[in-house]
Amino acid sequence: MLILGLESSCDETAAALVTGDRRVLSHALAGQEAAHQPYGGVVPEIAARAHVEALEPLVAQALAEAGVRLGDVDAIAATAGPGLIGGVMVGLVTGKALAHAAGKPLVAVNHLEGHALSPRLSDPDLDFPYLLLLVSGGHCQLLAVEGVGRYRRLATTIDDAAGEAFDKTAKLLGLGYPGGPAVERAAALGNPRAIAFPRPLKGSPEPHFSFAGLKSAIARVVGQYSAEDIAASFQAAVVDCLLDRSARAIAKVPNATAFVVAGGVAANGAVRGALSALAAEHGLRFVAPPLWLCTDNAAMIAWAGAERFAAGFTDPLDVPARPRWPL
Ligand code: KG4
Ligand code: ZN
Repeated sequence: MLILGLESSCDETAAALVTGDRRVLSHALAGQEAAHQPYGGVVPEIAARAHVEALEPLVAQALAEAGVRLGDVDAIAATAGPGLIGGVMVGLVTGKALAHAAGKPLVAVNHLEGHALSPRLSDPDLDFPYLLLLVSGGHCQLLAVEGVGRYRRLATTIDDAAGEAFDKTAKLLGLGYPGGPAVERAAALGNPRAIAFPRPLKGSPEPHFSFAGLKSAIARVVGQYSAEDIAASFQAAVVDCLLDRSARAIAKVPNATAFVVAGGVAANGAVRGALSALAAEHGLRFVAPPLWLCTDNAAMIAWAGAERFAAGFTDPLDVPARPRWPL
């Protein structure tokens, strides 16, 4: 089985070819950092235009690098939401056009499902059910992943996502955009115990998240401490919250085969290290995709498409783009 995947829901445009037996034949990606850098965050209108320009050449590149033609694919998978509506529409309409032209089925993929199933692309031994911490720029959730299309949400954030907190912290510290990697680099040079930032919701019985309070706490100390110490202390607070909330969720999924982390924030070394130790403490296998598969990409969309296609799910060509689409 050969699937072409398309991704365009935020600020990465991407196309990838993935097989049903987990071979990533190609993954082509174009970031938009330079276009959004002057604004300190993603500007939806700029993003949508950049997707329009980048996507077609990326599809051609992905096909060429894989050494296949469009006619060789079994299905075309495109992100249909959630995300910035302009961008989602670019990828979904392109997917529909390619599917129509080539006479191939379309699989509309929920971007979150792409993240949720991505660990099964990199780890062939990862079986359902597993406990997933999905931490990205737009989402912070704990899910029991019970099968393809079967996700039980155990917790979510009541305000900001963890990645959003990284991005806002970077902005407050003048570290630029994208914020996560910049904060991680600064944190490596600072003292994580320099400032005792709050640990919102730590200890509360339900495993929900909250990160908005951290932003105000940081705004209060900017200028009083070095950016490195603030970054390190902020990152330590986030890690602490993720650990405490995940520990609560582990108790709620006693039959989990593994504790899995996915999404952009899973690219953070301190986050990965701490979660891996937590899994070990609970006698659970820890699975985290390689870094390139954590942040937005089209291989995870192609793979989710492969899993859905194999399970018998395809979508009509009038399937709508959905800016909001909970798993
Ligand atoms: O999954 P993703 O690429 O896009 C969304 O679906 O949101 O996640 C992007 C988020 C951004 O907020 C970014 O700052 C964060 O992931 N991120 C990181 C790191 N790399 C990306 N956060 C912390 N440390 C990192 N190394
Ligand atoms: Zn994402």
